[in-house]
Amino acid sequence: MTEEKINVVGVNILKQNGVDVDELLKQLVYNASVEFTAFYYFTNLRAHCTGIEGESIKGVIEDARLEDLSHFESCLSRIYEIGGILPNDAQEFIRMSGCEFLQLPPNKTDIKEILKKCLVAEQGAIVNWNKVCNMIYDKDPTTYDLAKDILREEIEHEAWFLELLYGRPSGHMRRKFAGERPHTRKHSRSLDLA
Ligand SMILES: [Fe+2]
Ligand SMILES: [Fe+2]
Repeated sequence: MTEEKINVVGVNILKQNGVDVDELLKQLVYNASVEFTAFYYFTNLRAHCTGIEGESIKGVIEDARLEDLSHFESCLSRIYEIGGILPNDAQEFIRMSGCEFLQLPPNKTDIKEILKKCLVAEQGAIVNWNKVCNMIYDKDPTTYDLAKDILREEIEHEAWFLELLYGRPSGHMRRKFAGERPHTRKHSRSLDLA
């Protein structure tokens, strides 16, 4: 890339609006790592939902899993637009997520334990995206639009797992189809097949 100092108006306006761009980038890259790693772990957790009970749970974890992939995809362009990059070392990217708690429970097919892990993951994601919303509210409409849409899906995911674990009604169980991602679809069009 050229050594010349490039004028990036899209970043200048953020600074003028009072955004700490370095802090925002740090949080976005961290959130991207959590989404990416959670997608991986949900894949394995879902595969261990066996038996008659597991069959119905698989679909719910699949909806949440595909939306985590959507969340990862959704924040990528924003990271680069405001001058960030992903870590060069993929292992560093996975490690920074701190998602080891999503490894299989001691009894690998214990559905309740699997659901509890899913719930904690969703609750962590809510905190992560709420943090971004608070950092930029009124200052960065582009990132805010993204963060609030991801937050909306994370809140729905939490409600699904609360319903499955504790019978607390979610009011909106299941998507029309896996990968629907009703709130983040516009941010992750790269995942659309057509
Ligand atoms: Fe997510
Ligand atoms: Fe989620």
